[in-house]
Parts: sequence; C-alpha cells; structure tokens
Amino acid sequence: MIQKQDKIYVAGHRGMVGSAIYRRLQKEGFENIVVRTSSELDLRNQQDVSAFIKNEKPDAVIIAAAKVGGILANDTYPYDFLHDNLIIQDNLVHASHQNDVKKLVFLGSSCIYPKFAEQPMREDSLLTGELEPTNQWYAIAKIAGVKLCDALRKQFGRDYFSLMPTNLYGPGDNFDLETSHVLPAMIRKFDDAREAGHKPVTLWGSGKPMREFLYVDDVADAVIFTLQRKMEKNLYNVGTGKDITITELAQKIQSITGHKGEIVWDSDKPDGTPRKLMDVSRMKEEGWSYTTELTEGIKKTYRCFRENRESIREVRFEDG
Ligand SMILES: NC(=O)c1ccc[n+]([C@@H]2O[C@H](COP(=O)([O-])OP(=O)(O)OC[C@H]3O[C@@H](n4cnc5c(N)ncnc54)[C@H](OP(=O)(O)O)[C@@H]3O)[C@@H](O)[C@H]2O)c1
Repeated sequence: MIQKQDKIYVAGHRGMVGSAIYRRLQKEGFENIVVRTSSELDLRNQQDVSAFIKNEKPDAVIIAAAKVGGILANDTYPYDFLHDNLIIQDNLVHASHQNDVKKLVFLGSSCIYPKFAEQPMREDSLLTGELEPTNQWYAIAKIAGVKLCDALRKQFGRDYFSLMPTNLYGPGDNFDLETSHVLPAMIRKFDDAREAGHKPVTLWGSGKPMREFLYVDDVADAVIFTLQRKMEKNLYNVGTGKDITITELAQKIQSITGHKGEIVWDSDKPDGTPRKLMDVSRMKEEGWSYTTELTEGIKKTYRCFRENRESIREVRFEDG
C-alpha cells in the first residue's frame, strides 16, 4: 500500500493520462512525485532508465508513457508502435524490479483483447483470438507488458499489475486530425466546420461500430484507488461498461459544439473492431467505478478545447 509521503514516479506525466494522474496525485496531497519529460529522459534508453530508477528509488512507478495514436498512425508506423512500446515498458519494469520498487501500475488499452472477443470483454479473453490487424503492433507490445508484470508477480511476488482502460478522452488529448482518436477528432472537425459556416463534416467508416468512452480523470481516480490497496489480480479493465454507436457519438458532439451542417460518412475508410465494450465487474468487485457520464465529460473536454484553441496538442510521428 502506498502512503501520501511515498515517492511516486509518473512516467509520461505530460500525456493525457499521465497529466490527469499527476494532477490527481497533487490534489490528493502526495508530496513526493517525480517526473521527467521525454527530452530529459528517453525511456527507450535502458542505461538512462536504469540509472534514473536506481538514483531516485521511487516507492511506486506508474507507466503512462507510451507511443499512442489512432488507426492511421498505427497502420503507418507499425515498427515504431511495436518497438518503442516494448522497450519503454521493459526498461521501466525491469529497472523497477531490480531496484525493489514496491508497486508498479502498467497502463495498457482495450485493444489487447481479440477483435471478436465475446462482449463485454472480460480480462480472461486475453489471447483467445486474433487481434484487430490495424493496431496489432501496439496491442502485442501491451500484451507483453501485461505478461511482464504478471511474470514478476508469479516469480518474485511483486505487486505489479496492469490496468486496461477503454477509449479515453478529456483535457490534454491529441487533436491532430491525422493521428488522433475518434472522439477528439470529432470535436475538432465539428468545431472547425461550425466556425467555417456549418460546412458538412466527413467522418470515417459507417458509423455503426459501438464504442465505450471513459473520461480521463476517472482513469486517474482508478490509478489512485489501486495504489492504495493490494490488488489481488494481475489485470483489471477500467471503463464504464456502457457503449454507444459512432453515429450517436457524432450526434452528441455535433449538438455540444453547436454545428448545424450535414454529417457525411466515408464508408471507404475502415471501421475497425465492430464492438468494444469492457466487462468492468472485476474493478467493481474491488470497489471502484467511474463517475463522469459521457455528455458531461464531452462538455468539459469541449470547454477545455475552446479555451486552449490556439495551443491544442497536435502529435505527429516521424519515421525511425
Ligand atoms: N488515450 C487513450 O484513449 C487511451 C486509452 C486507453 C489506454 N491508454 C493508455 O494510457 C497510456 C498513456 O496514453 P496517453 O493517451 O496519455 O498518451 P499521450 O498523451 O500520447 O502521452 C504519452 C506520454 O508518453 C511519453 N513518452 C512517449 N515516448 C516516450 C519516450 N521515448 N521517453 C519518455 N517518454 C515518452 C510522452 O512524454 P513527453 O510528453 O515528455 O514527450 C507523453 O507524455 C498508454 O499506455 C495508453 O495505452 C490511453
């Protein structure tokens, strides 16, 4: 169990998830939080990561650092998504184990589960079928991360475990139209189209797939919850347990942004997995559930997007 005076290292504290965790830790009164940007510490460098953990000796490590992106980015840079994520997590998990870090939380995503997993997806559906091909590179890396923590639990009794959040959204999201996820991309498209005189908005796919979305502050809440108790299992889904169609999501965002134009569906573009809904009963049994409903979360995100319109995050990837 982690106490307020313990030293906590948040890897990836400037990202959407890491920054929400960092804000929440500060709010809860954790005083000893260690952070490094990727330019101060490139987590792909094993020697540097090893020296950093040895020097800082954190009590807990939260891995919210990863190379993250949507379908297009995953499909265009498969090697980067596989390699960078494997190496970042391996460096951090190994250095934590070697330096006797008490607790480690590894964050992955629901794409680790098979494309046609029974819905809602339970933790034990892991490795029971084929992955969604477009983001298999990222998924394979994340599965390896789950197994790495599980192997340390088994072999050394480490309190290292994985949280698999569903699709997340919120302040600090990536709003680049080429590399972002569906929800922030829609916010930007509808807002741009409204400003341009309610021009039509073209969206990818058929609109039929069903997706679940969790407000990022809720995942931060789940991380803080798990830090403060002994987790019995190696893997927990973190979500709402509720999903909506992409069409319904588009209509919701259209209404929140005040766009009055047409929505055009570009069905030549891929849909991805037909349905993705988490079974969240394992976390519920531990005593945790989400609090922010989708409409409220999108309103908060949109407000933040408007307030920071000139400085919104746009993440681009480079080869190599
Ligand atoms: N976004 C989602 O919808 C979602 C859903 C489920 C799970 N997750 C999981 O949550 C985690 C974080 O996602 P996110 O959305 O917060 O991503 P993000 O906003 O892109 O942030 C990722 C962070 O990782 C850091 N990073 C990347 N490469 C690095 C490197 N080589 N060395 C050091 N730091 C590096 C970056 O640090 P700098 O800013 O310093 O460059 C960045 O702050 C991921 O594991 C992801 O799988 C996300």
